[in-house]
Amino acid sequence: MFDLKTLIAEKDHLRLDLIDQHINPTFAKVLRILGYDINFTKGIAQYLYDQNDNRYLDCIAGFGTFACGRNHPVIRQAITDAMNLDLPNLPKFAPPALSGLLAEKLISLTPPNLDTAYFCNSGAEALETAIKYARAATGRNRIIYCKKAYHGLTLGALSINGGEEFSSGFGHLLTDTTPIPFNDLSALQHELQKDDAAAFIVEPIQGKGVFVPDDDYLPTAAELCKKHGTLFVADEVQTGLGRTGKLFACQHYNIEPDILCLSKALSGGYVPVAAVLSNRSTHNAVFSSLDRVVVHSTTFGQNDLAMAAGLATLAVLHDENIIDNAARMGQSLHEQLAEFVDEFDLVKEVRGKGLMLAIEFGAPTKFKLKLGWQMLHKVDAGLFPQAILVPLLKEHHILALVAGHHMDVVKLLPSLVINQSDVDHLVASLRKTIAACHKFPGPTWQILKGLTPHLLKSKKSKKPSPKKLTTQTQ
Ligand SMILES: Cc1ncc(COP(=O)(O)O)c(C=O)c1O
Repeated sequence: MFDLKTLIAEKDHLRLDLIDQHINPTFAKVLRILGYDINFTKGIAQYLYDQNDNRYLDCIAGFGTFACGRNHPVIRQAITDAMNLDLPNLPKFAPPALSGLLAEKLISLTPPNLDTAYFCNSGAEALETAIKYARAATGRNRIIYCKKAYHGLTLGALSINGGEEFSSGFGHLLTDTTPIPFNDLSALQHELQKDDAAAFIVEPIQGKGVFVPDDDYLPTAAELCKKHGTLFVADEVQTGLGRTGKLFACQHYNIEPDILCLSKALSGGYVPVAAVLSNRSTHNAVFSSLDRVVVHSTTFGQNDLAMAAGLATLAVLHDENIIDNAARMGQSLHEQLAEFVDEFDLVKEVRGKGLMLAIEFGAPTKFKLKLGWQMLHKVDAGLFPQAILVPLLKEHHILALVAGHHMDVVKLLPSLVINQSDVDHLVASLRKTIAACHKFPGPTWQILKGLTPHLLKSKKSKKPSPKKLTTQTQ
């Protein structure tokens, strides 16, 4: 008889080998090279545990999904209850049991202009929905988006993705899209006044690099959109549900988007889920007649487990004051990290909001150190953050991430339930790690030296990308 526990006990030591053989050998290789091949065996709240029960502070939190912490008991109970109730999940041609309840709850929390919810399974799918809704509602095609934006990797979402590194090699994308610099109102105005854009799609705070706009950017952008008949779409897949210290990042700027995209934290990290909030007239433009009733839909969209998890997550965020905690811990972390700018030659800026923070590194002034920096950047523009991340993991048991390709930015995206002692431990560990980077030559630079042969080898053996092949044959 199938028994998951036995299967795990028998095969857990093969985890990375199985990824290597059957899922993504390149990913397995990267994990091995960087030493991120720890088999975590348990995840509770803001922590992960390895086989020896060593505790790690997780500042990636599943790319932000575990806002309420991993394996939250209330959310787990809601999912268990949904299963034990033998609910008639996905009845399709009958009203589902829970999706209306989650829609009602979300609508009660979002700006009053948003009165209709659509449920799907991922952030990218939410953005696909926003693109289609905006086109249907305005009768226009063009989508304006921001450089360095990240909206997901399906073809529509990829067409409004600001990072070349994600789109190259996959052939033609949507053509009617226009990138503009983030936080640049005149560029936006220039595009909007052509009066042909269906939507301006923007993350209130950009996830890649963690860029926070000027205070007047989003309110003015929303006004300009209204004036030119363009829908203002807020992609709060990452910033939503407490991450920035408010339920929605839009609340920092008092804006009411025409379409709001949510995902990640909405199901406590248990079940894939996303929600798109819009108004009735947008909805009516999409589902414009009886025969278009399922013109936009997805099989698992309103599934009971995701809906139960969503309802429980919203209750937990409220009942446990998690968003206030995110604001307080975020402020404490931000203030302490900001001291690094004066303290360390290599630290240029600390930025972010709530518990979405970044430390940007840059060329040092000291001669020897600068030499090391330049040599390293000649080999690879995106390697330096590993000088922080590898020792942070190995010596201090903290998981954090690089904020994007080719940037010297370390990003912190912990669970919103971290406490003051986590914050202090994180700051002290980063301080030690960054201080060690200032010794050149020194052990930290040895780590990077150890990584460069792998990089050089991988660059040499890189096959031409499909895009290059396409252009060669065109
Ligand atoms: C702002 C934003 N939008 C969209 C996405 C895509 O979400 P998913 O990975 O669930 O497709 C992400 C994922 O990181 C994101 O941060």
